[in-house]
Amino acid sequence: MQKKIEDLVAKCRPYTKKGEVASYIPELGKADKEQLAVCVLDKEGNQCQAGDYSQKFTIQSIAKVAIFICCLLDAGKSEVGKKVSFEPTSDGFNSIVNLETKNKHRPLNPFINAGAIACITLIKGADPEDKFVRVREFVRKMSGNSDIEVAEGVYLSEKKTGSRNRALAYFMKSSLIIKDEDIEELLDVYFKICSLSVTVKDLANMGLVLAQNGRTPAGEKLFGAETARTVKATMTLCGMYDESGEFAVNVGLPSKSGVGGGILSVVPGRFGIGVYGPSLNKKGTSVAGKKLLQELSREFDLSIF
Ligand code: DON
Repeated sequence: MQKKIEDLVAKCRPYTKKGEVASYIPELGKADKEQLAVCVLDKEGNQCQAGDYSQKFTIQSIAKVAIFICCLLDAGKSEVGKKVSFEPTSDGFNSIVNLETKNKHRPLNPFINAGAIACITLIKGADPEDKFVRVREFVRKMSGNSDIEVAEGVYLSEKKTGSRNRALAYFMKSSLIIKDEDIEELLDVYFKICSLSVTVKDLANMGLVLAQNGRTPAGEKLFGAETARTVKATMTLCGMYDESGEFAVNVGLPSKSGVGGGILSVVPGRFGIGVYGPSLNKKGTSVAGKKLLQELSREFDLSIF
């Protein structure tokens, strides 16, 4: 597989020219558009990495997977279901339109920005810092990397420019999806979680835990099979926002994208995959990263469908 993924990185790298790095969070605009990396891990501990795999980048919306798992563990599925549903969206990740018109004001799913912000209210913690630490520790455990920290520059950049997320959160407060929380404090937790700095190997490890229904490669049980099923199903239907359908057809793996350029993919029972390519399409997905996953899925017949 090592030789094959090196060839695929070379084949897909030209696709980095087709997109643009995220600029609505100014600090993300500094990324090198031509970078591309992949890591594939299996449960026996075998790893294949290719391309710019040492590059660190911010986890961004991929952290919504950890937020979702933490709130399922802390509050249970039925409480989570009062805050968000588990339905796909035909709108972008930061869209506000459905909050007023659909679903009794609940965000459609936990992976759009509104859904993740609402889910943070259910995470256990005496104060906002506790909630942040709960999710950071969970990301560290899932990735097997206890050194994961916030990229301070990206965090401050998003905090300064995050008006759309403020709009979403205040709208949800007006419709009582968010009740007692201070919005600025809540968003501070969200911005910090999105700014955790990771590598493709960290993402692949997180994917491997989902592939193994909640168990780390060392055998520690972080969550149960029912939670894993809920999360993988939601990733399949909602993880790539309004291109989840096309992604299911062409890649066919439960996945989550982030505007930092990462994508986490799960091959149930077999592999965790992390890719990185900061050049994004209009949906906020790595263009070359998506192409790489498509080729990988075809080459090794990985689609779950
Ligand atoms: O809230 C935001 O806009 C970013 N922190 C995360 C968005 C994101 O990663 C969308 N996914 N592709």
